[in-house]
Parts: sequence; structure tokens; C-alpha cells
Amino acid sequence: KTIENGSVTWQAPSNIALVKYWGKKENQIPANPSISFTLSGCNTKTTLTYSKKDTNNTFSFDVYLSGEKQDSFKPKIETFFKRIEIYMPFLKDFHFKIETENTFPHSSGIASSASGMSALALCLMDLERLLSDAEISNNYFGQKASFLARLGSGSACRSIEGSLVAWGEHHDISESSNLFGVKYPFEVHDNFKDYQDTILLVDKGEKQVSSSVGHGLMHNHPFAEQRFKQAHQNLSALITIFKTGNLEAFIKIVESEALTLHAMMMTSMPYFILMKPNTLEIINKIWTYRSSTGSKLCFTLDAGANVHLLYPVNEKQEVLEFINNELVVYCQNGHYICDQIGLGANKI
Ligand code: PMV
Repeated sequence: KTIENGSVTWQAPSNIALVKYWGKKENQIPANPSISFTLSGCNTKTTLTYSKKDTNNTFSFDVYLSGEKQDSFKPKIETFFKRIEIYMPFLKDFHFKIETENTFPHSSGIASSASGMSALALCLMDLERLLSDAEISNNYFGQKASFLARLGSGSACRSIEGSLVAWGEHHDISESSNLFGVKYPFEVHDNFKDYQDTILLVDKGEKQVSSSVGHGLMHNHPFAEQRFKQAHQNLSALITIFKTGNLEAFIKIVESEALTLHAMMMTSMPYFILMKPNTLEIINKIWTYRSSTGSKLCFTLDAGANVHLLYPVNEKQEVLEFINNELVVYCQNGHYICDQIGLGANKI
């Protein structure tokens, strides 16, 4: 079909990995499988305005973040367009205006690449749907959106669906793939319903190590093979944990995964310490709190100093009191973000 111009808007969430993706092969293929909770409140809203142009030999687009032109985002999007061009052959036929806004503060240390790339991938899928003569099924739409998002930023492929998404081939999950994320296909116990994620903003600065550099450090890493094997085992263990609702076992896997991710960075060459003193203060406080109260609160970390607190919804009040009484002093400007697991991306 011929389409001259129009616009489409999608909102896509961030996600927090329980089993971490760290290390990749060519073409954004993960070195190990991962699984994440899709978040609800932390998301990116992107409007893609497209207008047909006369020539089709270059990519043409402008990017705006919260209404302001952002030329610094262009190289990343240019790379993304180059990678996906063979799957979206119409890209050079249009000029795009990409307007994006995040519900979380830009410099909060929360990566916007997962939610941003998935929102953009979904907008482009909508355009593909408009241009296509054939009927596009919802299954194809979601799977290809995840496939494209992966080529923008690996973990973005886990930001299309909710509320638990697995990515990377794993022998216990027959529908899993290295090419796109899949909705977790097995039973999940009610203990995980409305699970909470409160993000303590310990350091809002720019990332010290970009994730592409970080993934690269797993090449020739002395512990790489063992780590990749462990990720497979931890994902197998989580399948049983999700079924039985065993929160003690859940905590062990999730905290160990977070510390292992950081251990990989501390033992690579060059080596990095991405935690801050306050990250460790928080972890110690959580452990003390848990042993004195029997709470099921645990932490996880991304490739930075911020701490994600994961806990069952029935502990919300107590945990928020604990945060306000004991943890808020370790947050930059006392800043934290309350979120919980969510259902995935939406068209606006
Ligand atoms: O999607 P990337 O390339 O930014 O990598 C993200 C990796 C971690 O956030 C550290 C772990 C994960 O699985 O999300």
C-alpha cells in the first residue's frame, strides 16, 4: 500500500533482569539466556511521525527528547536503522520525526535503552503493518517487534510483553529463542503477583562503562564459560521457584545473579567496580532487615550503582517504612522510584 504520512505512538516499559544477560556474540546474540520482570511505571512513550520523501538513498530522521532536539541520540538510532534495514526495507522511503519521553528522570542512572528501543521498534512495526498488503498476526507483530528491539539494545527485546519474559535458548523452555524474547510460558505462583520493585537512585551519573563495552569484556574472560553455564542452571531453578512460590530460593538466585554480574566486571581486563559505597551500605541493611524480620525483601543490580528492591506486594507498607527510615539516606537527593511488575507495551 502507499502511505504518504501519519504518526503512531507506543509506550513501552523498562525491565529488570533476574537472571542477567552479560556477554554477547555477533548480531546481538546473547551468550546466555536471561529472564526479567517487565516494569509498569518506568517507561518510554515514543511518537513516530513519518512522511514520504522523494529520494531513498539515506536515512533521514530527527530525534526529540521531552520536546528538545537531541542530536546526541542520532548515532545510536542510525546504527539501529542500519541493522534493521534488511528487515524493514521501507526505512529510507520516509523522513521520521521521533519524539520520545521517559516517565523516569533522564539522568537517573536508569537505562532508557530497553524501553526506548522497544517503543521505537513497535512504532516501526505499526508502519510495516500499514504498508503491508497481507494481514499481520498479533503473534508476528510482537515477535518481530522484539526481534527488532534486540538489534537496538539486547535487553530491549524483553520489553514488549509482560510480566515475565525469557530471552535466549534454554533447554527447559522450548519456545525460547536467541532472536527475540518470549512471554514466560509456565505457571507462576500467586506469591509473585504484583511483585514490587523500588529503585534506589544511588548514583544518577552517566554510566562508567557502556553496556556494549561491558558485554565485550566477557570475550576471553577467565570465568566466562562457568558463568554462562550458571545462568542456564539459575534459569532452570527459577522455573521450579516460580511454580512453587518459594521466595527464600528466589532471593538466593536473584541476589547471587546481581553479585555475579558485578563480579564479572571486577574480574575482567580492564576491571571495573560499578558499585558505590552506598550500594554496599544498602545491601548490608537489607540483609540485617531480612534476618531480623523474616521479610522476603531482596535486591538486584544492573550494570551500575543503583539498587532495585524486589519484594511481595503484601510487604509494601513495611518495606516503604524501612526505606524511609533507613535507606533513603543512601540515595542521591533522597530519590527513589516505586514500581511493580507490569503487563507490557501499549499502543496509545
Ligand atoms: O541491553 P544491554 O546491551 O544494555 O545490556 C543490559 C545488560 C544488563 O542490564 C546488565 C542485564 C540484563 O539482562 O538486563
